[in-house]
Amino acid sequence: MGQNLVLNVESRGFQVSVYNRTTSAMTDFVAKHPDKKLVGEETLEGFVSSLASPRKVMIMVKAGGPVDAVIESLLPLLDKGDIIIDGGNSLYTDTERRDKWLGDLGFRFIGAGVSGGEEGARKGPSIMPGGPVSTWDVMKPIFESISAKVEGEPCVTHIGTGGAGHYVKMIHNGIEYGDMQLICEAYSIFKKAGFTPAELAKVFTDWNEGDLESYLIQITAKIFEQNDPETGDALVNKILDTAGQKGTGRWTLINAVENAVVISTINAAVEARILSSMKEKRVDASKILTGPDVEISIEKAELVKKVHDALFASKIISYAQGLDLIASMGEEKNWGLDLGKIAAIWRGGCIIRARFLNDITDAYRTDAKLSNLMLAPFFTKLLTEFQQNWREVVSIASLAG
Ligand code: 6PG
Repeated sequence: MGQNLVLNVESRGFQVSVYNRTTSAMTDFVAKHPDKKLVGEETLEGFVSSLASPRKVMIMVKAGGPVDAVIESLLPLLDKGDIIIDGGNSLYTDTERRDKWLGDLGFRFIGAGVSGGEEGARKGPSIMPGGPVSTWDVMKPIFESISAKVEGEPCVTHIGTGGAGHYVKMIHNGIEYGDMQLICEAYSIFKKAGFTPAELAKVFTDWNEGDLESYLIQITAKIFEQNDPETGDALVNKILDTAGQKGTGRWTLINAVENAVVISTINAAVEARILSSMKEKRVDASKILTGPDVEISIEKAELVKKVHDALFASKIISYAQGLDLIASMGEEKNWGLDLGKIAAIWRGGCIIRARFLNDITDAYRTDAKLSNLMLAPFFTKLLTEFQQNWREVVSIASLAG
């Protein structure tokens, strides 16, 4: 992501210097892009002195200790007023600590969540920066030019002070976990009902042309179209049903419990991911713990409609829960969060971008004090309309084990 962000920034007419602890990573990167105006520096000293004042140094390293280590090595080289930006998935409490630490020393600090993966970083990510407004004002032209745009609006806004940016990125990731789990559960029901991957590619492609249009539905459709080159079988049948996690989903859950906010969909997603990682134990247990084998015998087109409604309703609940948590923490921390602006910058660039984020944005723009997304008339109507099918799908899934 770091390399692609550099290419993105450079392509907007800014000069970028690059440094990596492993010199060959930097030289290989610079050599690979001879047409770009990149200043490759082998030492941190050279890197810092190549920058114009006030310096803007963006760090893209693993969350936790590595961020502190890079900051510590930078500090003796920087001048007061220089800006450090942490663009990784840092825990917001670490960001709050760094904000105070660096602020007390006279440096400026931005903790910015950046979403969109490697591709988004190159083409335009969604950026969630937190920190002092005066520092945001300095960074704004760069962030706005490199971010994704939706209807001409840049997918970046000043989220709030301190750790607000990384906090909102954490919840974004929690919602991402929920979306992925909902897609997995829809797939699981369809698989049990005898749908082939080719049929599923069609279902998800159709969904992506309607109200469920989103990045994750779109790439899921593409996954169903892939064949395993070795066996010719659908690739999805060859993928081990086990996944790791870097931590943001779990942090979201811990924070929700601490705030007594219910995020049951994200909770279930995080737990499902933990269970998925216990592959060997699950295989062993499946030989001992058995249950009735119930078929799903509902007509396919009807099931597609029902699962669509269940998936969409669950998605609304998941986003409502995530936004509820953001609102509650925002109040507690006095971050002055604007849910309409947050929803708006998630409409493009990020992993959870989806057509219905336009409706979420509208809901909060119409009523900034909305107590819960489910109570916005647009969503109340959908939840009412979907509820019968939603309940049926939950029953079908339970009965089918
Ligand atoms: C993004 C993603 C990205 C990534 C996370 C989560 O917004 O670009 O959220 O940050 O998916 O690193 O990783 P895990 O799912 O492994 O926790």
